[in-house]
Amino acid sequence: MTRPPDSPRSTTTADGPGAVAPALEAVALSKRYRLGEVQILALDDVSLQIAPGSFVAVMGPSGSGKSTLLHLLGLLDAPDEGTVLIDGQDTAGLDDDALTATRRDRIGFVFQTFELIPNLSARENVLLPAEVAGRRADGERLLASLAEHLDVADRLEHRPAQLSGGQRQRVALARALVNDPVVVLADEPTGNLDSVSGQEVLDLLRSGVDDRGWTVAMVTHDPNAAMIADRIVFLRDGRVAGEVDTRSDDARERIASFAGV
Ligand SMILES: Nc1ncnc2c1ncn2[C@@H]1O[C@H](COP(=O)(O)OP(=O)(O)OP(=O)(O)O)[C@@H](O)[C@H]1O
Ligand SMILES: [Mg+2]
Repeated sequence: MTRPPDSPRSTTTADGPGAVAPALEAVALSKRYRLGEVQILALDDVSLQIAPGSFVAVMGPSGSGKSTLLHLLGLLDAPDEGTVLIDGQDTAGLDDDALTATRRDRIGFVFQTFELIPNLSARENVLLPAEVAGRRADGERLLASLAEHLDVADRLEHRPAQLSGGQRQRVALARALVNDPVVVLADEPTGNLDSVSGQEVLDLLRSGVDDRGWTVAMVTHDPNAAMIADRIVFLRDGRVAGEVDTRSDDARERIASFAGV
């Protein structure tokens, strides 16, 4: 499914000067990993703006820095150079407590490996971030509609091992959303799913953007998944190698040419 060409979203999220502050902004991010004597430049001067209520897909070869970028955007790790702004606020100066609070209250993170806690039920897994934030009652209210939307309402008492892969992924997604985040970061959220479950996850992210005003950045290898976004950013060797508006006529050709196929 591709965003309809007349989507109102596309006219309300201009990235240009004078527009509202980006929901998420990477400014000249660099990140090095050190392995003994060897240094790997995982991200090299990456800048990116994501307008509020827009959906960006990040594509690129394995090792190009996609997960590293998502971790930095999600404040899970700190860059060596550059900074991340959330709603125009520079996060570089925040102390650990403020970072934790921002992460907890503003950002939902969907990891490729679901990382559900094995001895908790699906319900308790989903409610954990709400509990930690002291907002269990709000979480429980949201849980009811999330579980319905994600088609896991009748599986909430199951433990992760008693769920299918697709159900586990959807429970992980509900957990990422239970604090009603403004920014959702998803690292290959459909990577381990069959096409039907994968489509459900994509539809949920898309409707979150269209109906609830989420801002989504999603890493994916799948061109069909990427086409559900508004914009695709390509990474290569830790740098932004280009981007494409998914409404442009040549979007699929450009994906293919970036992917080198
Ligand atoms: N903790 C780490 N220590 C050392 N090197 C790392 C670490 N994490 C990532 N790297 C390296 O940094 C580069 C970027 O990794 P990253 O995980 O961001 O790639 P990716 O684009 O997400 O790849 P994939 O599509 O395989 O998930 C890779 O060369 C990787 O080997
Ligand atoms: Mg990765």
